[in-house]
Amino acid sequence: MSRKIRIGALISGGGTNLQAIIDSCESGKIDGEMVFVGTDNPSAAGLKRAETHRIPSFIVDYADIIRTVNHHPDQAKIPSDFDMDELLQKQSVFPGKDNPEKVKKFLISRVVAESGLLEKMKGFDFDLIVLAGFLRNLTPYFIDRVNTDRGLPKIMNIHPALLPAFPGKDGYGDTFRYGCKVGGCTVHFIDYGEDSGPIIGQKTFPIEPGDTLDSIKKKGLEKEWELYPECIQLYAENRLHVERAIFSVGNGRTYQRSIVTIRE
Ligand code: GAR
Repeated sequence: MSRKIRIGALISGGGTNLQAIIDSCESGKIDGEMVFVGTDNPSAAGLKRAETHRIPSFIVDYADIIRTVNHHPDQAKIPSDFDMDELLQKQSVFPGKDNPEKVKKFLISRVVAESGLLEKMKGFDFDLIVLAGFLRNLTPYFIDRVNTDRGLPKIMNIHPALLPAFPGKDGYGDTFRYGCKVGGCTVHFIDYGEDSGPIIGQKTFPIEPGDTLDSIKKKGLEKEWELYPECIQLYAENRLHVERAIFSVGNGRTYQRSIVTIRE
């Protein structure tokens, strides 16, 4: 028995996945409603989609915050509950790992931005956040404040590749340049790593000899628009469970990771 879930979306660009999710809510394919759309990018074209569907939206201008932290650090609004050491222990991805000053600035700017997101989100009651082309890494500061129930992750992402292959910024480009014969997309829960969280669903498409990067992106996006609503509906039906799986890999050794099981 599914319930109507309240979904918040974070986007950075055109928002075609956002549109697919809104349409699926409206048509009943997802038992849910979109309650807000947030963005890091004031000119995100997807904001228009929110407006068309009368969905409240907000902007937290990451670029502006990053500039302030880099050039006027005294003006940065660092939240009082920010603990750099705790974050450094948990965070597993950041640029410039060998340069502690750079890492610190990166984390401070992201936490300032994320506390801005959290502040805006406070006004909305939501069950799930979907990252729909949100092109910023979220730090544990944000993730821990959303995932307050350890057994129930609340942040999903869609990635344009068949993870764990090709994490990062350019999934379809990396797939194409590698010469893959199959491409795909992945929906997963967010964890502290880059595109490394437990996988909920994946779809594939063939890459033919005449394909170009553009044709691959087109094929991929069409799969994304099917996959994301399906995964969100599984969440609405309360059928997704994250569990710690332990696999034997021979010689008495084991491999562990968190995986998603889908209940019947
Ligand atoms: C989609 O291809 C999505 O998979 C990708 O950005 C595009 C957004 O398109 N996301 C990432 O690369 C996240 N790392 P959209 O704005 O039209 O939905």
